[in-house]
Amino acid sequence: MSEIAKLLVGDNTYEFPLIQGTENETAIDIKALRGISEGVVTIDPGFKNTGSCQSAITFLDGEKGILRYRGYSIEELAEKADFLEVAYLLIFGDLPTEEQLSKFHNDILENTIVDDDIKKIIDAFPKNAHPMGVLSSLTSALTAFNPSSVNIDSEEDMYNAIVKIMGKFPVLVAWTMRKLKGLPLNYGSKKLGYVENVMKMMFEKPNEDYEINPIVKNALDKLLILHADHEQNCSTSTVRIVGSSHAGLFPSISAGISALWGPLHGGANQAVLEMLEAIKADGGDTKKYMGKAKDKEDPFRLMGFGHRVYKNFDPRAKIIKVAADEVLTDLGVQDPVLDIAKGLEQEALKDDYFVKRKLYPNVDFYSGIIYRAMGIPVEMFTVMFALGRLPGWIAQWREMRLRKEPIGRPRQIYTGANHRPFVNINER
Ligand code: CMC
Repeated sequence: MSEIAKLLVGDNTYEFPLIQGTENETAIDIKALRGISEGVVTIDPGFKNTGSCQSAITFLDGEKGILRYRGYSIEELAEKADFLEVAYLLIFGDLPTEEQLSKFHNDILENTIVDDDIKKIIDAFPKNAHPMGVLSSLTSALTAFNPSSVNIDSEEDMYNAIVKIMGKFPVLVAWTMRKLKGLPLNYGSKKLGYVENVMKMMFEKPNEDYEINPIVKNALDKLLILHADHEQNCSTSTVRIVGSSHAGLFPSISAGISALWGPLHGGANQAVLEMLEAIKADGGDTKKYMGKAKDKEDPFRLMGFGHRVYKNFDPRAKIIKVAADEVLTDLGVQDPVLDIAKGLEQEALKDDYFVKRKLYPNVDFYSGIIYRAMGIPVEMFTVMFALGRLPGWIAQWREMRLRKEPIGRPRQIYTGANHRPFVNINER
C-alpha cells in the first residue's frame, strides 16, 4: 500500500502520511491539515472514524470479536490472572513478577485509609442519591484531602497518585454501597488481597466475622478483569481529555465516572436488569419487547445489545454468560430473569433487524445477573463497572501524560447566526 493519502479540496491536493499500528490498522495522519489548507478541518460527530491517540494498552478488533490487554487475550487473562495482576499489566505494560506484584500491593495497602471527614460528605447526600453521583463526587473530593497528588511532575508523583487511588477507590465504592444499605462504614484488612478486601468492605455485617466465599471471589475477579479496559470508549476518552489539561488523576477519574454513568455506556448494566424485570412483570413476553426495540417510533432499545466497535460477539459477553450460569448454579440462586435474557438473546440472534445491524449482546447484558446473585443492589452495578475500569483509566491517563500529549481541544464547524448588532432590551 502507498505510504500517503491524498485529499482533494477544491483545486488543491494535500498529502498526508499514513500511520500503521502493530495490528496493521491504518490511519491518515491529518495533524498538518488545518495549517496547510487555510483552515479546512475534518468533522466526525461521535468520533466514529477518528483515532484520538496512539496507544499500546488495549487492542480490540470489533469485526473478529478480539480483545487483548497489552497483547494478552481477554479469555486467557480472565481464566488465569487475578485483578491486581491485570491492573499492574495495564498500567505498567508487563505482567508483574511476584516481587513487583507484592510491592505494588503493599504500596496500595499503605494508602487504603480515607480521611475521616469524607464521611461527613457521604452523610450530606440524601440516602437515595444515585451511587454513581456519590462516587464521582467523592473521587473528586479526594483531591482536597490529598493535595500532593494534584501537580504531577515526575513518574514518582505519578506512581504515588496511582497507588493512592487504587487504595482509596474501593473504600469509596464500598462506603457508597454501605450508605445505600444503612450499614456502618468500615475498612478492609492488610491481611487480605485486593478483591477480598473489596468484598469484606462491601459485604461485612457489623455483628459477624466476614468469610470470603471463593465462588463470589472468583466471579468478582473475573468481572473486574473483563471490565478493566476497553481502549478509547466514552469514559476513557473523557479521562484522557480531562487529564490532558493536567487537572490531576483524581478529577480525571471522577469525570470518567460521570461519563460511565450514562445508560448508553456503563449505566447499561443497571438498565438491562431493570428492562429484564419490566419484561418479567409484563408476563415475560420477549417478542413484544423485540418489537418495541425495532420500532423506530418507540424510544425503547434492547439494553445490553449493540456496540460501537463490536460488529460480532463481544468476547466479554461470551465469558460472562458462562460465568452467570456457573455462579448462579454454585450459589444455588434461581433467577428467572436469566431465562428471559437467554430468550431475548436467542430471538435477537435470528432476527433480521439485529442481524443486519450486527447487534450482539455486549458486556452489560449478563453482568447484572451475576452482581445481583452476589447480593449487590442494582443501583450499584455501574459502580462495580467503575471499580473494574479504574486500572484502565489509570493506564490511559498515565500513557497520555508520559507521551506528553497536547491538551484535547477539538475544532467545530460553526452553524449559528452571522454577526448582528446588539439590540437594547426595550427595543426587542
Ligand atoms: N436496540 C435496538 N436498536 C439498536 C440498538 C439496541 N440496543 N443498538 C443499536 N440499534 C440500532 C440503531 O437504532 C441504529 O439503527 P438504524 O441504522 O436503523 O438507525 C443502528 O442499530 C446503529 O446504532 P447506533 O446507535 O448508530 O450505533 P452506535 O455505535 O452509535 O451505538 C450503542 C452503540 C452501544 C450506544 C448502541 O448499540 C446502544 O444504545 N445499545 C444499548 C445500550 C448499551 O447496551 N450500551 C452498552 C454498550 S457496551 C458497554 C459500554 O460501553 O459501557
